[in-house]
Amino acid sequence: MAFQDQVSIQFMGKTYRVSKDSTLMGALLETGWESARELGCLGGCCGTCAALYRLPDETHVRTGLACRIPVREGISFSLVGCYPCPEPVYDLTTIDDPKQALFDLFPEITGCHKCGLCVTACPQDIDVMRGMWCAVFGDYVSVADHFKHCVQCGLCARACRAGLRPIWVAAYARRVLERGQEPLVGGQEPSG
Ligand code: SF4
Ligand code: SF4
Ligand code: FES
Repeated sequence: MAFQDQVSIQFMGKTYRVSKDSTLMGALLETGWESARELGCLGGCCGTCAALYRLPDETHVRTGLACRIPVREGISFSLVGCYPCPEPVYDLTTIDDPKQALFDLFPEITGCHKCGLCVTACPQDIDVMRGMWCAVFGDYVSVADHFKHCVQCGLCARACRAGLRPIWVAAYARRVLERGQEPLVGGQEPSG
């Protein structure tokens, strides 16, 4: 490939020259990086290519899906990998009050301090913070709606300093709805 059709990128601190029309994931495939072949859909659907990247003219680090971020000269990036975000174990058939059970299963949810870092981190433009507050107030229909384009990349959980687990809160809300256990919306924000 001609030199002018390539750009220099840095992946995990190492420099490569790759096709200028590529995405970050496409670039990894070009470099022959073995693990790239085991990574996901390459189409923005599976969330396994969550990445941190920095543009040459910026001082802050962005988050995104490597299969959707175009390469450009001087971009540097690394893949996040699987972020620890454990899903609680529960059996909805034994839960009488799903709204209260949410606070038992996800006690950290009331610690959201509305910093918005999860919203900035989300590559799907989901208002994660609002979704979590909809869950706090028992509006599970809105939770499900907010997260309908979630690809479960985990970048929001990684960004959250309060340890919230938005993916599993959303999954819980969906399961409650599927069972027809939708709680009454509203009420006071719990204190503990
Ligand atoms: S809500 Fe969280 S897990 Fe879902 S796409 Fe956005 S950052 Fe990824
Ligand atoms: S990052 Fe965490 S604490 Fe901040 S708004 Fe999102 S859920 Fe709340
Ligand atoms: S590889 Fe599936 S979202 Fe990027």
